[in-house]
Amino acid sequence: MRKALYPGSFDPLTNGHLDLIRRTSKMFDEVSVGVLINMQKTPMFTADERVALIAEAVKDLPNVKVIQFAGLLVDYVKENQITAIVRGLRAVSDFEMELQMASLNKKLNDDAETIFMMTATEYAYLSSSLVKEVFKFGGDIKDFVPDNVYEHMYSKK
Ligand code: PNS
Repeated sequence: MRKALYPGSFDPLTNGHLDLIRRTSKMFDEVSVGVLINMQKTPMFTADERVALIAEAVKDLPNVKVIQFAGLLVDYVKENQITAIVRGLRAVSDFEMELQMASLNKKLNDDAETIFMMTATEYAYLSSSLVKEVFKFGGDIKDFVPDNVYEHMYSKK
């Protein structure tokens, strides 16, 4: 069974993330969306909230599950027989950090292969941080996040 892990902070899930999950789900038998618990910065949403929001957004994709992980990514990869870590590339600016992470993960665990998906052009400018900033200053984020994430964000305001 070919298992992909799509890890991230997902604070919050954006339409760019969701597009990438959909496309990845066609290529693997199972896709785990891995929500990082121990983030360096304080998240806007708790890990449980992020998991619940993603689970709702992907409920039409039967081979996608949402999990939480803490600690090293490569440990999760090893313990769960993950075939490939999937990461999205939006622009050249993402490349440097992604190359560093993929190379480090490979060094820590030689079986940890990372594959990169190009983010759809229409979402290339999107990031969770920018969505939070626009939201914080009262801008409309409707086109940037799935409907359930949008509703959740406004219900908390
Ligand atoms: O959405 P993000 O914040 O770009 O995702 C970054 C993430 C979660 C993939 C990365 O920070 C991570 O894997 N963290 C877990 C700790 C770890 O394994 N660090 C060393 C290798 S990068």
